[in-house]
Amino acid sequence: MKITVVGTGYVGLVTGTCLAETGNDVLCVDIDKNKVAKMQNGEVPIYEPHLDILFERNINAGRLKFTTELEEGLTHGQIIFLALPTPEDEDGSADLSYVLGVAENIGKLMTDYKVIVDKSTVPVGTAEKVTAVVAKHATVDFDVVSNPEFLREGFAVDDFLKPERIVIGSSSEKATQLMERLYKPFVRSGNPIIIMDEKSAELTKYAANSFLATKITFMNEIANFCEKVGADVDKVRIGMGTDSRIGKRFLFPGIGYGGSCFPKDVKALHKSGKDNLYNFQILDAVINVNNKQKTALIPKVVSHLGEDLSGKTIAIWGLAFKPETDDIREAPSLYIIDELLSRGATLKAFDPEAMDNVQRKLGDKITYADSMYDAIENTDALIICTEWSIFRTPNFQKLRENLKAPIIFDGRNLYDIAEMEKEGFTYFSIGRKNVL
Ligand SMILES: NC(=O)c1ccc[n+]([C@@H]2O[C@H](COP(=O)([O-])OP(=O)(O)OC[C@H]3O[C@@H](n4cnc5c(N)ncnc54)[C@H](O)[C@@H]3O)[C@@H](O)[C@H]2O)c1
Repeated sequence: MKITVVGTGYVGLVTGTCLAETGNDVLCVDIDKNKVAKMQNGEVPIYEPHLDILFERNINAGRLKFTTELEEGLTHGQIIFLALPTPEDEDGSADLSYVLGVAENIGKLMTDYKVIVDKSTVPVGTAEKVTAVVAKHATVDFDVVSNPEFLREGFAVDDFLKPERIVIGSSSEKATQLMERLYKPFVRSGNPIIIMDEKSAELTKYAANSFLATKITFMNEIANFCEKVGADVDKVRIGMGTDSRIGKRFLFPGIGYGGSCFPKDVKALHKSGKDNLYNFQILDAVINVNNKQKTALIPKVVSHLGEDLSGKTIAIWGLAFKPETDDIREAPSLYIIDELLSRGATLKAFDPEAMDNVQRKLGDKITYADSMYDAIENTDALIICTEWSIFRTPNFQKLRENLKAPIIFDGRNLYDIAEMEKEGFTYFSIGRKNVL
């Protein structure tokens, strides 16, 4: 099938590459000229595990191409995916200007039947808005489909190739059949393609992300309470999670959720509620608790190292909002860095993939280390912000030797309390007893 993907970020590029992998002829459109030039030269512009292999294979096979011209994209594809940003607007709503802007141009440029697919995360009612904007200019027939994406950064390729489910929101038989044909190779093991109306599809995505953000946040509150009463959140987590109604996943406490999706999606659903005269009280609480949780380590740092951190050098392990990505959007590390800098600390950071992105944002406000051990050399303490695998079993002797004092503030509960006691560290984590 001939497919066009507009927007080549984490979602668009993975979508385009994986659709090419099943034999489709894919053209990706992006307004970012540098990015398109890089991709035309065979360079993957983001870090996403396994994407490079598929990317190279499909470019070489001539099934994956790139352009900056939307018109070319419209000549090419029958199905046009919109994988455009829907960032948080000032009032918390999803900014639809990218989606509606491209929709308008599609309406103007279309010369034959197209299926226009909203893959971006968009509020309820967006398919109607896209339809109206396209229809204003279109002279040919078209359908708009809502097809929210559930991939996780860090596992995006795997998630796309083997999705747990595919949601298609459409009231058009013709468009639904085309979408089912396109996705059939991805659900051979029997996972469902769930067909519904556009509004329900749009809400499914927000409901899923908001539920997961709520689950994380609930556990963070339990962790905070554990600290007050002397319980151990690890024990509570396992005790709870073995109940199959609750499940083991998404119960790990830490320094809050971040990233390009949960924060903006929870706020957008909350705002969508307000716009429809519904007050999502639970989401209000989730937003507030998570905002506080991002800097939950700061009171521990201050209680141990003092309010004034000038003269102190602190190492940071992990900058990405989660492991296996270079994405730093809404990363808790950035909030922690901000708090530490405002208290006068000098910071040395290491992250396996996200340092370039942080350097572009923060410049020389912090120092960037060549390795995790280089980061801790001559520092007064270590703060762990992201649970990258390489941080899980460090050489503790090297840590003791490099740090001026063996102090760790762990925002991801990577280490065993008993082991840290044995290894002689002063160790603070989330929802567990401090080792002093
Ligand atoms: N990142 C994720 O894990 C994820 C998962 C599921 C859903 N989503 C949703 O998918 C959408 C895209 O997210 P993302 O993370 O891929 O975004 P992104 O910011 O990584 O990528 C967006 C791309 O769109 C391009 N773009 C902007 N305006 C354009 C235009 N007018 N024409 C062509 N290209 C244009 C940008 O240059 C960029 O390359 C969002 O709605 C997001 O909420 C993201």
